[in-house]
Amino acid sequence: MAKQDLSSERLRDIVTDIAEEMAAETERGKVADYIPPLARIDPNQFALSVITRDGETISAGDAQTRFSIQSVSKVFTLALGLGRLGDRLWSRVGREPSGDPFNSIVQLEYEKGLPRNPFINAGAIVVTDSILGSFVPKEALGEILRFVRFLASDDDIAIDPDVARSELATGFQNAALANFMRSFGTITSPPEQTLGVYFHHCAIAMTTEQLAASARFLAFDGCLSPGGPRAISARMARQINTLMLTCGHYDGSGEFAFRVGLPGKSGVGGGIMAVVPGQAAISCWSPGLNAVGNSHLASRALERLALRTGWSVFAPR
Ligand code: DON
Repeated sequence: MAKQDLSSERLRDIVTDIAEEMAAETERGKVADYIPPLARIDPNQFALSVITRDGETISAGDAQTRFSIQSVSKVFTLALGLGRLGDRLWSRVGREPSGDPFNSIVQLEYEKGLPRNPFINAGAIVVTDSILGSFVPKEALGEILRFVRFLASDDDIAIDPDVARSELATGFQNAALANFMRSFGTITSPPEQTLGVYFHHCAIAMTTEQLAASARFLAFDGCLSPGGPRAISARMARQINTLMLTCGHYDGSGEFAFRVGLPGKSGVGGGIMAVVPGQAAISCWSPGLNAVGNSHLASRALERLALRTGWSVFAPR
């Protein structure tokens, strides 16, 4: 895409307007309640942060409040897993949209334990297992957290132990997925170890400003800024963006691509990370979810942001 011709004043106005419009919305979706600590989150929260190619951060709303990034963490583990295994990772996980809910087990049976893509829970558990490899779980988790802090250029990012513990105690469907895949040899570590690492990386807590910062490497061809420190290869960054566009919102991926037109990844904590290749890294958060488990207001806000800025991977400015 060409260099953006959107002034930072105009972008600031757009972001502020969207936050005000979202504050006035009465339909806010429903917070995830299958992970008990998430059920207690106030749904009347909203934040939007954009980091431009010049490194400017523009935010509105509750952009200093930390939230559970949940499935957005699957982007970071995919980047780490791809960096470690390269294309060998694709023998263990596919690259097709599933058209099913994020925790579905049905395809796994008739596709012999091979998950459709790295963003449904089964696929993300496989990616986590590939990172675990020969590490003990604590080391693998340390590796993931170090990588996320590097991506965000921020050491003040941590795992919420209550959320991790709660998912360990209630994640029966994920345990079913992991055990099922272990029986096919798709995962190789003891399922309880792989799940322990998976639940903990899903429990990373961040603000929208931190999450937008950690998405910069996908906006800038694998680097933290244009020409800046490299996190992954440009090829891998493009591959991850493609998967975010096609699979980042589960069975709402087509709708998100249609309405927003940008690669994005959602989590049941209500966060969405999105990328404007060459232009900006974005994060939006509002805890209430729509029927397919994506943030209701964050999806709407990103649709308005794309419309007003003209940002789209299908229409270079
Ligand atoms: O495995 C789970 O169910 C959660 N840790 C993550 C799910 C999630 O965020 C799906 N997102 N929309």
